Amino acid sequence: MISVILCAAGKGERAGFAENKVLRAYNGLPVLCYSLSAFTQAGADEILIACRKEDEETVLPLLSPYPAARIVRGGDTRTQSVYNALKKASGEIVLIHDAARPFVTQKIIRDCIASVTAYGSGVCALPATDTAALTKKGYIVSVPARKSVYAVQTPQGFLRDRLLCAYEQAIKEDKTFTDDSGVFAAYDSPPRVFTGSAQNRKLTFAEDFCPAERVGFGIDTHAFAQPYSPRSKNEKTETVTLAGIQIPSHSALIAHSDGDVLVHALMDALLSAAGLRDIGCYFPDTDETFAKADSMKLLNEVMRLVAERGLQPQNVSISVLAETPRFSPYIERMRQNLANALDLPLSSIGIAAGTNEKLGYVGEGKGITVYAAVLLKGISHD
Ligand code: CTP
Ligand code: MG
Repeated sequence: MISVILCAAGKGERAGFAENKVLRAYNGLPVLCYSLSAFTQAGADEILIACRKEDEETVLPLLSPYPAARIVRGGDTRTQSVYNALKKASGEIVLIHDAARPFVTQKIIRDCIASVTAYGSGVCALPATDTAALTKKGYIVSVPARKSVYAVQTPQGFLRDRLLCAYEQAIKEDKTFTDDSGVFAAYDSPPRVFTGSAQNRKLTFAEDFCPAERVGFGIDTHAFAQPYSPRSKNEKTETVTLAGIQIPSHSALIAHSDGDVLVHALMDALLSAAGLRDIGCYFPDTDETFAKADSMKLLNEVMRLVAERGLQPQNVSISVLAETPRFSPYIERMRQNLANALDLPLSSIGIAAGTNEKLGYVGEGKGITVYAAVLLKGISHD
């Protein structure tokens, strides 16, 4: 018989949400439900959820699809929470898992059980890819061989009576551990590791809750005040503004703002990727504050809205369709301007320009259309 303990009795302080992070929705489903569902699918005989008293009334209604699950009162530390649940568990094998790791796979659960069956313990762990260092007061005092270093995850499986024995000693000595392998190693024997996966990551900070990447797309068109005519002189006495750069043109573009059609398409792509409304909603052309507005300043405001959602651009790809003027001499400056505004390296800004082969309104020189695609990612913590 297999018992599972789901540790859910933390406060999620580093995530900084009003509620416990494991009750927060991820893609529409509370984080806790992911592991409830994974361990139910794996055939767990009982699932004990270590839960704070304050969270019980939120957790209880989530349990109906999981008949093997029940609540156990958590403690002030993870060690205390696991100990409380262990005392109530009845399986010969017990798997302990952080509810904050919702992406645990069936393979990991199977490997954990197989390791306990073969070796008496199974700790999910990833071989380190970075070099680890032990430090004291800000100085490195020793560097273990990278081959011997693992990042420890959950689930961690043990024979229940032996783990309980180890926990009883830890509690008696009032010692706190960050996981179960530490308790077992201190009071029983070195636990066996099996290879976990990067996918099985722990949700710790608010940005860990953002889906990894979000795509966005935007289009804008502005008409020339004077259509281009192949027969007239079309002297470049006016300018158009693209990506904040003024480019000599036979005519200006008709616009309420500065008519930066490229930045407008880009702003719509950014807002749409972040799940926000379009630029017309934030900067209406009926509002006189935006008359002749500098679109690069509006772009800063859009970047602020996107950052508020915990997101930042990863790269942008822009296509300008115009029969005239010729943009190629200005493209590097346009890219640099956008790189500065979006805080991205130049290599992450792509701008292509082309004509429409004299077809349609673009081809007839009546206006300019810009297409913009962006990729957003969660703001990184470092
Ligand atoms: N946990 C627990 N009982 C505690 C503390 C933590 O059951 N007294 C659980 C958490 O709910 C989480 C897991 O242990 O699923 C791993 O802990 P951690 O990521 O540190 O979560 P929190 O303690 O909730 O977060 P924080 O440390 O940021 O407050
Ligand atoms: Mg914690």
